[in-house]
Amino acid sequence: MYHNKIVWITGASSGIGEAVALEMAKGGARLVLSARRVTELERVASAATAAGAGDVLILPFDMAEEASFADMVQKVTDHYGHIDLLFNNAGISQRSYCIETDMSTYRRLFEVDVFGQIALTKLVLPLMIARKSGHISVTSSVAGKVGVSSRTAYCAAKHAMMGFFDALRAEVTQDNIRVSCITPGFIRTAVSENALSGDGSRYGTMDDDIKTGMDVTKAAQIIVRGLARGKKEIVVSQLLERFALVIKRFCPTLLFWIMAKKSAHDNN
Ligand SMILES: NC(=O)c1ccc[n+]([C@@H]2O[C@H](COP(=O)([O-])OP(=O)(O)OC[C@H]3O[C@@H](n4cnc5c(N)ncnc54)[C@H](OP(=O)(O)O)[C@@H]3O)[C@@H](O)[C@H]2O)c1
Repeated sequence: MYHNKIVWITGASSGIGEAVALEMAKGGARLVLSARRVTELERVASAATAAGAGDVLILPFDMAEEASFADMVQKVTDHYGHIDLLFNNAGISQRSYCIETDMSTYRRLFEVDVFGQIALTKLVLPLMIARKSGHISVTSSVAGKVGVSSRTAYCAAKHAMMGFFDALRAEVTQDNIRVSCITPGFIRTAVSENALSGDGSRYGTMDDDIKTGMDVTKAAQIIVRGLARGKKEIVVSQLLERFALVIKRFCPTLLFWIMAKKSAHDNN
């Protein structure tokens, strides 16, 4: 499926990005692994090489540092010549009520989860348009379709990414570029531990929903299969979150009521 394809994965140092890197490696992909933590990227790169990756380039950078992106894209094209799939996946979540969330925390989350993804996509897009070939994905979330309490920043960011990439798809389908929005529910990763508290500090706790979430390797297999089929929306979740998506679509008022009740319950 991805044999010899050049796949650039952001957020590749842990969780979903790491698991997708290993799945892609098994298929013989040539990888670019990006995130901030170099030692974690090196660990994932070794595992990916052992799993069968055609080549692995480690490219550490911070998604909030847009000024470095052009240089990063240049490094990828110098090494591989082109990019087949940009897997926009780096992200941070949030655990704090709106009333207790600093504006600086909203801005920080948006830099990483929204503006970083847009800026990197804008740099890669012209290369794909020139080749009339390419695939861009974004790891959004069920929180990109459903409003969840204590995640106002995160939900806003993930809703924004759904809108951005749906609109982008309309623009670039004529250039033979595919766009996929990935909608995970609860996946067992460090996402809640790495989430921002209201003051911007690390939340540091694994939520019960995440503890009982889908195994990350299984999630990665669903994602890679969906990408290979060119699916425009890839839902990766257990039944509860799928149910929430269906209610949001067909009876949003019921979903708003359930989410408010859940918030009141969690708050007591
Ligand atoms: N797990 C879930 O239940 C779930 C559900 C829906 C959506 N998602 C989304 O899935 C994506 C991956 O999350 P995960 O669950 O795999 O959590 P994770 O293990 O915390 O992974 C987050 C990844 O993003 C990278 N990252 C965070 N801030 C960054 C920054 N400023 N610059 C560059 N890279 C940064 C992290 O690397 P460094 O720390 O090394 O930089 C890490 O590789 C996120 O977009 C998340 O919102 C997750």
